[in-house]
Amino acid sequence: MAVQISPSILSADFSRLADEATRVEGIADWLHVDVMDNHFVPNLTLGLPIVESLLKATSLPIDCHLMIESPDRWAPSYAEAGAGSVTIHAEAAKAPVRTLRAIRSAGARSGFALNPATPVDYYEDLLPEIDMLLVMTVEPGFGGQKFLDVVLPKLSRARALIEKHGGEVWLQVDGGVSAETIERCAEAGADVFVAGSAVYGAEDAAKAVHDLRALAAAAQQA
Ligand code: DX5
Ligand code: ZN
Repeated sequence: MAVQISPSILSADFSRLADEATRVEGIADWLHVDVMDNHFVPNLTLGLPIVESLLKATSLPIDCHLMIESPDRWAPSYAEAGAGSVTIHAEAAKAPVRTLRAIRSAGARSGFALNPATPVDYYEDLLPEIDMLLVMTVEPGFGGQKFLDVVLPKLSRARALIEKHGGEVWLQVDGGVSAETIERCAEAGADVFVAGSAVYGAEDAAKAVHDLRALAAAAQQA
C-alpha cells in the first residue's frame, strides 16, 4: 500500500486555483476537488466548468469528491471531462452500481464515500465495483473541522473487508487529516490521504505534503 497524498483545494485561494495547484505539483499524487451543491451538504463550492478549467491548468490528476444530491446525474460528466477519479456518496446515490460503472466506462477510477455514521459492512458486496473507498472522518461540508476519532474502528473494518476481497481497492480518508492524526489513519489501514487545511494552511504546501507522506509511510511500516 503506497501512501498517496491528495491535497484539497477547498482550503486554497479560490481566486487563484491554477497557482494553488502548482504549489503541490510534482509532490502530491492527486488534487482533491470538493464539489458541493448546498443540498447534500450545507455549503456551495464549484462544479463542472471549474473542474474542466483546472484539468487544463494542472498536470496533477484530479480526484473529484462529489458532495451533491444527484451524483447519478452528474458523476459521469466529471469522468468524461477527464477527472482521474470520481467519488460519489453512498447517502446520495440512488443507483450506485450503475453510476460506479458509468464512471469506470468513462475512463476514471470509481470512488464510493461513506459519511461518519454510514456503516461499511452494508456495502461489502459493492467492493468489486469500487476502485477507492472513502471513509469520511468529519461530517462533509467544510474544511478545517476536527478529526472524528469515533470513525477509526470503521476504517480498520474497511481495510479488513478490502483485504478479504483481494486488497485492490484504495482506502481514502478525508477530514481533519493532519500531522497530528495521519499516523492513526495509516495504522488503521488508509492509503490515500486527503488534507486541506494541513496543506493549504501551511506556509510551505509542498513541505506539508512531504511531511504528511513521511509520517503516514512510517506509521504503515510500524
Ligand atoms: C470536507 C471535504 C474535505 C475538506 C478537508 O467535506 O470533503 O476534502 O477539504 O479539509 P480538512 O483537511 O481541512 O479537514
Ligand atoms: Zn473531500
